[in-house]
Amino acid sequence: MATVEVDQDLCVGDEICAAMEPEIFEMRDDGLAYVVDGQEEVDGDMVAAAREAADACPVDAIIVEE
Ligand code: F3S
Repeated sequence: MATVEVDQDLCVGDEICAAMEPEIFEMRDDGLAYVVDGQEEVDGDMVAAAREAADACPVDAIIVEE
C-alpha cells in the first residue's frame, strides 16, 4: 500500500506518467497530471508502477509514500 500524489506546482505536463501508467495518472484540461479519481492509494503491483513513473518524471513531481 502506498500513497501517490502529483505536485502540480512542479509538474510541467510531460505526460510520461500518464502514458506509462494511465490507471494511476491522468492529464486534465490544465495540462497537468493528476492521480485518477479515488486512486490516491495504490496496492500491489501498482506501487512499483507508481515508483517507475515517479522515477521517469523529469521534474520529480510525483510523490510515492509507503
Ligand atoms: Fe507532470 Fe511529471 Fe507526469 S511533469 S505530466 S508529473 S511525468
